[in-house]
Amino acid sequence: MQMVGTFLLYLVALTSLKNHSNTSDESYQKLPRFWTNTGFCPSGEIKRDNLKAVLLSDEVQMNLMHIAALPTGAVSHIRIHWLLKLVKFIEYTPTGIPIYDFSDLDAFILNLNDLGLYPVIEFMTDIDGILVNNWDIAAFLWQDFSYQVTKHYLNLLGAKKLAKWRFETWNEPDVLNYNRLNFTTKGFLEYAMALRKGLTDASRKPVDSLHLALRGPAGLFKSKSNHPLCWALLEACNSQINNCPIEVLTYHRKGQGLAAEVLETSRQLLKSIYAKYDNIKSMPVSNDEADPIAGWSTPQDYHEDVRYAAKLVFIMFLHWRAKLELREFKNLESISHDNAFISYHPFEFAQRTLLAHFRMNNSKSVHSQFIQKPVYAALGMLSKLAPLAADVETITVNSSNNEIWLLKTRSTDDIPLYLSWLLLPQENTTSLGRFTLHRQLPFDLCTKDTFGYVIEVLEQGDTDPVHIWRTKANATPFPDAMQRAAMRHAQTPRLQSTGILVTPELKIYIGDFQIPWILLFRVCSIFSPTLKPPTQPMITKVTGGEVFIIWREDGDTKQCLKTYEVWFQANETVEWNFISEDWHLPFPSFHFAPVDASVNGFYKIRGLDFFNRRSKFSARVEYIEI
Ligand SMILES: *[C@@H]1O[C@H](CO)[C@@H](O)[C@H](O)[C@H]1NC(C)=O
Ligand SMILES: *[C@@H]1O[C@H](CO)[C@@H](O)[C@H](O)[C@H]1NC(C)=O
Ligand SMILES: *[C@@H]1O[C@H](CO)[C@@H](O)[C@H](O)[C@H]1NC(C)=O
Ligand SMILES: *[C@@H]1O[C@H](CO)[C@@H](O)[C@H](O)[C@H]1NC(C)=O
Ligand SMILES: *[C@@H]1O[C@H](CO)[C@@H](O)[C@H](O)[C@H]1NC(C)=O
Ligand SMILES: *[C@@H]1O[C@H](CO)[C@@H](O)[C@H](O)[C@H]1NC(C)=O
Repeated sequence: MQMVGTFLLYLVALTSLKNHSNTSDESYQKLPRFWTNTGFCPSGEIKRDNLKAVLLSDEVQMNLMHIAALPTGAVSHIRIHWLLKLVKFIEYTPTGIPIYDFSDLDAFILNLNDLGLYPVIEFMTDIDGILVNNWDIAAFLWQDFSYQVTKHYLNLLGAKKLAKWRFETWNEPDVLNYNRLNFTTKGFLEYAMALRKGLTDASRKPVDSLHLALRGPAGLFKSKSNHPLCWALLEACNSQINNCPIEVLTYHRKGQGLAAEVLETSRQLLKSIYAKYDNIKSMPVSNDEADPIAGWSTPQDYHEDVRYAAKLVFIMFLHWRAKLELREFKNLESISHDNAFISYHPFEFAQRTLLAHFRMNNSKSVHSQFIQKPVYAALGMLSKLAPLAADVETITVNSSNNEIWLLKTRSTDDIPLYLSWLLLPQENTTSLGRFTLHRQLPFDLCTKDTFGYVIEVLEQGDTDPVHIWRTKANATPFPDAMQRAAMRHAQTPRLQSTGILVTPELKIYIGDFQIPWILLFRVCSIFSPTLKPPTQPMITKVTGGEVFIIWREDGDTKQCLKTYEVWFQANETVEWNFISEDWHLPFPSFHFAPVDASVNGFYKIRGLDFFNRRSKFSARVEYIEI
């Protein structure tokens, strides 16, 4: 356990503590999980064979497994371009209905489903070539295709799962690189309408209550003359709102490096849309590519470290504040980070990804090693926010550039109380001097309740694997086992401080943290439900003698989780061994790479809460290397 001496949490006993210890002037609102979305585009040629090979490759599957191994609810949806190109056309029935082979898509979707992730299905395909010679019946083919896709997965996975899926029109249809079908405006509107009808038909029977909404047009919305398709869709919807194919307006607005620009350019766009099209004002909106800068593969220094993590959290803060305060964002449904890509050499950390990817070409068996970047950990921290949130509080330190932004969240009920506060310096902050944050906590301690707390921190230069890679591994493309272990030790938030609160007051000296940093402060009542045991432990081979272990956590009791413990037993004649003893594991995964020992044997996992109460162990699973 790392305890950094420069940090102090003072729990000052105040004798004259006033009775009204809660800040009743603050209003808390339901905090929808609007940021839990990611996406990527598979690499290489947009041909079925390549897409199949890429999507089912070890790298992509391992990348998805890491994303799924964040805490429950950290990432819910993943948007993947060209996914439907995996559907094969076989033949027409005698009545002219196409018959499709879904087996490749099934393989991918079933894996995703096992991992607990929902897809965003973009209708982006030439339907295995059958459209090209059948433009006259394109509308029929699209309607039937969207019907068949939806029906197929309704039958396979059920209505409960499908209700969580998202369906979207073609990504950025006005961009030539994407518009491979050469949609005309008329053709594009017919396409969207046909998709809508197919979705409605598929969800009609046998579950009448199921409603599958179509989203679109995933547009960049540049000038009307350059981007006629997405503007035409809005125009059509505005003039005939009851005949509008989409129910969620999706658009893409990125910054030029700053988080604040993502919000500002979004605001400009929404303003101009609402000025022209009054009738779509109440439609939910989603920026499903809300990244700090365009071009995922273009290396950026700040993508490497805590700076990108802080930008992502700041983008979320800005949107939450905007949702509460700005008319344009009242109907914001979600934002998505397009960061589920897989980085490639020599930009292991510098691309817009959640993980750093090392392709170990020097190894006897070529394989991939993934290191979780701070942005990954930041998504994990965001998942620990409580269901109600106040507006973001801005704490000016000595100038408008040097600010701390604080998001306070709390449980719906007072008993058992859960508080989760996330704070970070605003993105232009250069110095906070010797600042101490001092806050009264919204409860009093006269009751029979006891409150435990945990403070976790991500800090530039410390919980920062790329820093280790550069300073201790000479930025090698093939880090060895020791270097990888050192990077992995730096990949989760640092456990800064934990214990029992003795007064309802928080004093945090922040002056010594290197900027940027992200701090999560959580408080749990001792009456919180006890941790349920982890479930579904799964061991996956990384390479010989190395495994990646993931498990599921119970969504209802995970908020008071401090860390996990992973135990191993080589065989039934030896003792169980606490193999994660040196690790802070707030997220449900562990990379096990023992030096000079086998990974063959049994594994089990349990959780530890703020009061050091242990959950029962998960089921035990056996791993045998082949
Ligand atoms: C906070 O204070 C207000 C007004 O004194 C009171 O109505 C409310 O119940 C208090 N809430 C908590 C969580 O103590
Ligand atoms: C779209 O237009 C391009 C350029 O004219 C052409 O090469 C391509 O074959 C067209 N695509 C389809 C599906 O017709
Ligand atoms: C490993 O090999 C692949 C395929 O040849 C290549 O694309 C990649 O750049 C190599 N990686 C490194 C780190 O050399
Ligand atoms: C940071 O500074 C830039 C440039 O001055 C400004 O455009 C941006 O709004 C600032 N960001 C915040 C959050 O104030
Ligand atoms: C803010 O405080 C820091 C640290 O004390 C100092 O370096 C900086 O110059 C101050 N800025 C202003 C505008 O006073
Ligand atoms: C059990 O594991 C221990 C430690 O790895 C090993 O020394 C021993 O030979 C094993 N026993 C059996 C019966 O496999």
